[in-house]
Amino acid sequence: EKNGFAHFMLKEIHEQPRALRDTLKGRLAGDDSAVVLKELEIDDQKLRSLRKIFITACGTAYHAGLVGKYVIEQLARVPVEVDIASEFRYRQPLIDEDTLVIVISQSGETADTLAALREARRLGAPVLAVTNVVDSSIAREADHVLYTWAGPEIAVASTKAYTTQLVAMYLIALHLAAVRGTITLEERRAIIKELKQLDSRAELILGNGHLIKDLARIYGRAEDVFFIGRGLDHAVALEGSLKLKEISYIHAEAYAAGELKHGTLALIEKGVPVVALATQKNLFEKTLSNIKEVKARDATVIALAMEGQKELEKVADHVLYIPPTNPVLAPVLAVIPLQLLAYQMAVVRGCDVDQPRNLAKSVTVE
Ligand code: F6R
Repeated sequence: EKNGFAHFMLKEIHEQPRALRDTLKGRLAGDDSAVVLKELEIDDQKLRSLRKIFITACGTAYHAGLVGKYVIEQLARVPVEVDIASEFRYRQPLIDEDTLVIVISQSGETADTLAALREARRLGAPVLAVTNVVDSSIAREADHVLYTWAGPEIAVASTKAYTTQLVAMYLIALHLAAVRGTITLEERRAIIKELKQLDSRAELILGNGHLIKDLARIYGRAEDVFFIGRGLDHAVALEGSLKLKEISYIHAEAYAAGELKHGTLALIEKGVPVVALATQKNLFEKTLSNIKEVKARDATVIALAMEGQKELEKVADHVLYIPPTNPVLAPVLAVIPLQLLAYQMAVVRGCDVDQPRNLAKSVTVE
């Protein structure tokens, strides 16, 4: 059932091209000019009058929400707040009928996310659930459901569920942007065209997996690893850091790259691995100067960028490339090397990859 892979996690990482395709299937209009979300039965007038969106979730799903915030705000120009479900449910969120609440949950059974959904509905907001499990509690109780078609995820560490959640965020953002008239048809077409190519680009990254195995051999014994990035790269850094912690038990922290010098830089010393994400073109120079900052403290830098950013090779110790794509879509590709890095590090350390200590796949208690 592992299809020849050593672990479910590795199998599921490799299933991502297929999962991305399935999650897009039937949701794009024939000429690639529009997103068709039959599941979202909120009328256009209502979507135009939305004043705020809340996204709430736990763990990896929360990290997908952080990408969602960035993308929805950028494309549809609606303010989005993202909150951890266990916080949202107890903080009396400011919700009214012009608010849409999006909950994200792979399993559809996470207790805190379900409670956040109930709280949102009690306060009168329509709830849209993004989930991977048909007929789960969250799917049943939400007003609208957008399924991710990742297929069953067995490994405790979430991989293909996360990337398909990102696709769901893009679909929602593009739909809202179309209804609200915040991007042009050409812009929409351009993003949709790239969205459809994510599967083959993910395939290319998976084909280079051996590069990451080599890195894991070198750095697998590290005690601390830092992840830095700006904008969408920061959201992906948080996910990369969580993956590494949960399966390899290495202490990892993710920081907005510009925030390092406000305290964390004190922890950067000779040989500490810093994974620096620099996929966002408009932030590249800024991230590059943060990379130089940590290099000046003798950190070891593993940079991750889109092909073509040769400049990094002069500064970083290692550079991993992802195929070029629209910067808003980069998280789907950028996370794959980080998933593989966490996986390979855990293997080097002899950890139980699919069943990490103290964790359960579905967290149905508070
Ligand atoms: C991490 C991981 C968890 C889950 C979280 C939410 O790899 O899998 O952080 O993302 O427990 O689970 P769901 O999405 O089922 O609500």
